Order: sequence, then structure tokens, then C-alpha cells
Amino acid sequence: FDPSYFYRVSHASIIKNQYKMNSYIDTNKEKFLNELLDLLRIPSVSADSKFNGDMHKAAAFVRDSIINAGADRAEIFETAGHPIVYGEKIVDPALPTVLVYGHYDVQPADPYELWNSPPFEPVIKNDRIYARGACDDKGQFYMHVKALETMIATNSLACNIKIMIEGEEEIGSVHLGEFVKANLDLLKCDTILISDTSMIANDVPSIETGLRGLTYLEVEVVGANRDLHSGVYGGGVANPINVLCDMISSLKDENGHITIPGFYDQVQDLTPEERAALNAAPFDLEEYKKDLHIDDVTGEKGYTTIERTSVRPTLDVNGIWGGYIGEGAKTVLPSKANAKISMRLVPNQTDTEICDLFIKHFESIAPSSVKVKVTPHHGGLPYVTPTDSVEYEAAALAMEESFGKKPIPTRGGGSIPIVALFEEQLGRKSILMGFGLDIDGLHSPNESYGLFNFYKGIETIPLFFKHYARLKKS
Ligand code: BES
Ligand code: MN
Ligand code: MN
Repeated sequence: FDPSYFYRVSHASIIKNQYKMNSYIDTNKEKFLNELLDLLRIPSVSADSKFNGDMHKAAAFVRDSIINAGADRAEIFETAGHPIVYGEKIVDPALPTVLVYGHYDVQPADPYELWNSPPFEPVIKNDRIYARGACDDKGQFYMHVKALETMIATNSLACNIKIMIEGEEEIGSVHLGEFVKANLDLLKCDTILISDTSMIANDVPSIETGLRGLTYLEVEVVGANRDLHSGVYGGGVANPINVLCDMISSLKDENGHITIPGFYDQVQDLTPEERAALNAAPFDLEEYKKDLHIDDVTGEKGYTTIERTSVRPTLDVNGIWGGYIGEGAKTVLPSKANAKISMRLVPNQTDTEICDLFIKHFESIAPSSVKVKVTPHHGGLPYVTPTDSVEYEAAALAMEESFGKKPIPTRGGGSIPIVALFEEQLGRKSILMGFGLDIDGLHSPNESYGLFNFYKGIETIPLFFKHYARLKKS
């Protein structure tokens, strides 16, 4: 008796399943793509209430697609905001359970005039899909629906799958937290798998092991009770726009350090080894500048561009307005000025504490000639995940198998607010196995997603389940 017999038999069946899956994907390539294009035609913009009807249409589309993939169930859960779609396929309670998370809402497409083709009429050009949400996150979460369909159709599902696709990620996941807290049993799982981040390049696969947190607020500076003649009153009464500009520019010093007292108190500095590892990732500063048509980069002194955009906190003005912006010139001393300001946070800063620190500081630096009002918007906590976990290893093996190269761990600069809450409420880590690229233009005009990335994701996701089930068992 040859003891390797069982190994060879089970190995042979894995190879056979792999073959079946690859040919299923190959046969259904066009169908998968056409379905995604239908989803991209629904303008599910969560920030703008004029699209509320489309939010429901998109949720129904997602529910139906999970049912059609062969799930046991899928339903829409209404919230005080946009609906959440939840579905599951439980094959065997003895197998590990993976919760897949994604979002069907998209950012506003504005400014429309900068799009080469309408944002909600997807087109394929140069092997890329152009549409709002093509990558973030419709193209990415739909890979999971199609991977699920492939695994069910070929009888290759190695884990139980729960899938939750929300409609408020782009506005801070405001109602998802409550839903998670109220449905701990429903969402019980061994790990969470998310494709809503980027890789370094198609030939440099990588896995994000961190996300930044976020505090977002709006400020208003008010001077006189009405707009005034800038000749009659100018020079003697505060101009809120001038004051706001002074206040904003004082929020950073000449080294790019944020001046809010206490802002860095909780920031966890990386060890020299961690910094070296982070900076060892392939990055070409000249290419970066060329891509953005800039002559130089900027940022916090003493840190590289990779560090500035991932492990260091930031403060940015996202929008600023006030006074006369119509045609020609109007001499006016405006009564008000406003700005939207966000701060990206890193471990162990908390969005609520940073929000409080900002408000206290902003009020304290306001001259007595104006009044200021600060209104907090949404926020979220930063997140990190170790690379020595079973789930990270499963993701790394899956990518290595499909890309033919070991993925590099990176730290992401963006935010997915629910990930820290998943950890707090479900006690589980999330794996950020994203297939997008920075050049996909998330949130920008002409957002796109490579066909290569869409199909590579569908091929890689089942490999994650295969490796995860095997590693969990051993
Ligand atoms: N998918 C992005 C986050 C992301 C992008 C992470 C690329 C890492 C790499 C997500 O949809 C997003 O845009 N999040 C918002 C957060 C929010 C609260 C509006 C963000 O980061 O601005
Ligand atoms: Mn996203
Ligand atoms: Mn986004």
C-alpha cells in the first residue's frame, strides 16, 4: 500500500476542479462582462439623493446576481439610509466561513464634462472598462459574485460563503455599523475577504495590510451679518475668506507637520525595519511625477512618498468656497467662507479624538473679528493586519498561484471605515485582496478597470478559498 495514494487522489481531484473552473470562466467570459456592464449602467451614487431610486435598483441587481450564482439565499435589508444586500452559501458547517464584503455605491461622477464618454454608459477601450464604479467597487465586488458562481457550478466550493454588499461605503458606511451590531450571528465568520484596494502593478501583485482612518468636517467662518461694499468697509472689517485662508495655512508648519496640539500623540511610529520594508516596494518617483504632470512632490519632511501616502497622517482641504465666483468682477466683502477638510489617520489615532482636537484648535485660532462653526461629517478608524496569519498566507498563495509571483505586502492610504468595526464587533481580521491599480482613476473622471484585472480576480478568489480551507484544517 502506497500511503501517498490518498494525497494523489485528492490532489488529482483538486487539479480536475481547477481545470473545470478555468474552463467555466473561459466559457462565460462574455456573459460575466456583460452583466458587469449592466450593473455599471445603474447610477448608484450614494451621496446624492436624486439617485435614491437607482440605489434600490442596484441593490436588487446585486441580490438577483447572488441568487443566480447559486447561493442558498440573498436578500435586501433596508436601513435608515441605503439598503444592504446579504446572501450566503453554506456547504458544510464543518468548513471555515468567509464573509465577503464590498460596496455597490459609487462616488458622484462630477465633473461630467471631463469624461471622454458618459460615466454610466460603460465602454471598453484598450482592454479597459470605462465607467464610474468600474473598479471602485462594482468591478471588484462583482468578481466575487462570479467566482462564487464558478465555484458552485463546478462543485468546487471549499468554504462557506457569506456575502454582504453595502450601499453607503462612499459616504462613510453610516448605517452599516448598526446593522453589523444587530446581526452578529448572521455575520459570524472566520475571516473577511475584501476586494476594494489596489495592487502595485499587474506584474507586481501586492496585498494591502493597512488602511488609513478618516476624520471629515466642514468649517464656516462668518464675519459681518451681510455682504459689504469692499471699498466702504474693506480694511476695517474682517474678510472671512482671508481669515479662513490664514487659519487653514496655519494648520501646517514649514516642515509639513500638522500643528493641531496633540495631533501626533497617538501616532505609532514604524520601526526602522518596517520603514525599510515599506520602502523596498518597487516605486519610481520619476514615473510618479510624470504620470501626474508635476515637477516635484511635497509632504511631511523626513518621510518618503510611500510613507507620506500610507503610514503618515494628513490634513487636506477638499473644497473651499465663498464670495463672488460669477463672471467678471464684483467688489464685495463677503460675509461667509466655508471649507471641507479631511484628515487621514494612522494607528493608533481615533477619528473621534482627532475630530475633538481639530474643533478645539480651530475655534482657538479664530480671531475675535469672526465667528467659526465646525460641523463633523463621517469618520472611521485606521486598520492594520499582520502578515503571519493563516488568512494572509492563503491570500498570498492564491495570488502567487494566479500571478506566478509572490505578492508584496503594502500599506494602503485609502480608508474603508467598516473594516475596523468588523474587527471590533466580529473579532475577525479582514484580508484586503484588491485587484485595482492606482491608475484606474478611482473617484476621478474616466475611472476604468482592466479586463485583465477583472478576470484575474475571478480566477484568484477561488484559490483563496482553496488555500484557506486547507490551511485552516492543518
Ligand atoms: N475603495 C476605496 C478605498 C481604497 C482605495 C483603499 C484604494 C485603498 C486603496 C473606498 O471606496 C473609498 O474611497 N473610501 C473612502 C472612505 C470614505 C469614508 C468616503 C476614502 O478613502 O476616501
Ligand atoms: Mn471602494
Ligand atoms: Mn471609493
